[in-house]
Amino acid sequence: MALRVAILTVSDRSARGERPDTSGPALKAKVEAQGWSVLQEDIVPDDLLVLRDTLSQWADGRCFDVILTTGGTGFAPRDVTPEATQTVIHRAAPGLTEAMRAESLKITPHAMLSRGVSGIRDRTLIINLPGSPKAALENLEVVIPVLPHAVQLLREDADAETGHQFAQQRKNTEFTDTQ
Ligand code: MTE
Repeated sequence: MALRVAILTVSDRSARGERPDTSGPALKAKVEAQGWSVLQEDIVPDDLLVLRDTLSQWADGRCFDVILTTGGTGFAPRDVTPEATQTVIHRAAPGLTEAMRAESLKITPHAMLSRGVSGIRDRTLIINLPGSPKAALENLEVVIPVLPHAVQLLREDADAETGHQFAQQRKNTEFTDTQ
């Protein structure tokens, strides 16, 4: 299933051109390795209004199934990506973020410091990822297996039920394989 993805890097320094953005390109490579398309990329500063406007415009254009943000999820005073995301989503999708945090905690206790959120605006799923390339990729890898079915459901795809059954069969097989 071909997912249409947009990637938004959130960083004051990268937006000013003082630090190259390595997280956006790393995420793009990972997304494309799934056979999915990255149709839009941008870098914005840690600014609530800029973030809010960019996220809502991207979602309202209805060109993307998934918007990945990277950066601005921590405790620094200018880290406001979760707050901006909360203002634009219509429905929260906490399971994605819970899973990312749970898996990340197996890697580093610093996972507790990411305040990222996930949610849905109309038919677009917005997922906050942390800012470093390592952290962004580790988090993305957790949700990649469920994104096709998530997008099937958002699109009200007639095959959504099949996707669910397939995922369940895969889980059962994995379970059997580990016995
Ligand atoms: N999650 C994973 N999987 N791996 C990491 O290295 N780093 C953490 C956390 N989540 C990390 C992670 C750190 S150090 C911080 S401060 C928070 O994400 C927030 O990062 P951000 O402010 O760059 O968004």
